[in-house]
Amino acid sequence: MAAAPAPAALRAAPAGPAGSRILGVGAYRPARIVGNEEICTRIDSDDAWIRQRSGIATRHFAGPGETVVTMAVEAGLKALAQAGVAPAQVDLVLLASMSHLGRASAAAPEVAHLLGAGRAAATDLSAACAGFCYALGVADSMIRAGAARHVVVVGAERMTDIVDPYDRDTAFIFGDGAGAVVLGPAAVPGVGPVVWGTEGDRHGLIARDRSWPEARERPDPWPTLRMDGPQVFRWAIAKVPEIGGAALAAAGVTAADLAAFVPHQANLRIVDTSARRLGLPGHTAVARDIVRSGNTSAASVPLALDDLLARGELLSGGLALLVGFGAGLAYAAQVVALP
Ligand code: UT7
Repeated sequence: MAAAPAPAALRAAPAGPAGSRILGVGAYRPARIVGNEEICTRIDSDDAWIRQRSGIATRHFAGPGETVVTMAVEAGLKALAQAGVAPAQVDLVLLASMSHLGRASAAAPEVAHLLGAGRAAATDLSAACAGFCYALGVADSMIRAGAARHVVVVGAERMTDIVDPYDRDTAFIFGDGAGAVVLGPAAVPGVGPVVWGTEGDRHGLIARDRSWPEARERPDPWPTLRMDGPQVFRWAIAKVPEIGGAALAAAGVTAADLAAFVPHQANLRIVDTSARRLGLPGHTAVARDIVRSGNTSAASVPLALDDLLARGELLSGGLALLVGFGAGLAYAAQVVALP
């Protein structure tokens, strides 16, 4: 056999800008708001316990026409409008979700099509409740590497499809919704280095009760999420301050520089304990969207960001610390400049 020719030198993609920044934020909350009383018709619990242990007062449940795709599109369109970026300018759509059960393996290509960005690269990213911060880290790298100029990063979840409404440990926690940002090139970085990782040896702490192949043998009821809440709680109140502090250091700023703290909305006690342990000053706005939206997994960070910005506080141009954490176990944190 003849020897293969010596490989030609490959040309790398042209280098991108020094950084990226968030140009717009958008959110979609399903129309139906569900209070704790309704949840407690299916589990042995009460409103006072749920509020005290989790902070949750209401959550939104998606109706028949509200899918991971439609909710992602609504949030993405709002983010594009706020950014002043035309859909045709979008090079990449990254969708973070753990609850897309549609026929296509990835939801992002359909989302890109419905956004009007039909030729953009588009893919799903699966890192559960850390998914949005993971996707934001990937998108920032893509822009700085010159692989994309404008990226729509969406977190969208229809958790009601994968949660057992009769499971006392999880039924009151999760909700549905979507949040999105548009990321674009920036001469001055508006997204700090991502601090991320996994602890896969603990993957069983938040996982479905059965795999899909196992469900083929026993289809009814279909697989739903189980969580060892107390173990995850203990992990989170140590991990969030740890990686939050590391993200601040990586970005070269301190807690005193923060206009906002937007952690994954898993439990109000995790939010408040983490804020205290990070030593946040009084002027830092703390996202507490958990109270009205519950835990929306990959959607919770952009939903909470949208909620804070919508409150009209003077946050624009300030810095926010984002922290995602959850099933995997996976975590990611970064500091961003607010649009
Ligand atoms: O998004 C991914 C990341 N997820 C998280 O970070 C979630 C972290 N975990 C949590 O948020 C909390 O662990 C929960 C809110 C899920 C649970 O709160 P907890 O304070 O850890 O409660 P627990 O499971 O330790 O239960 C305390 C008590 C128990 O009773 P005893 O043994 O003290 O008599 C439970 O049986 O509360 C009881 N309990 C309930 N009572 C009313 C457990 N679930 C319920 C319920 N309603 N739904």
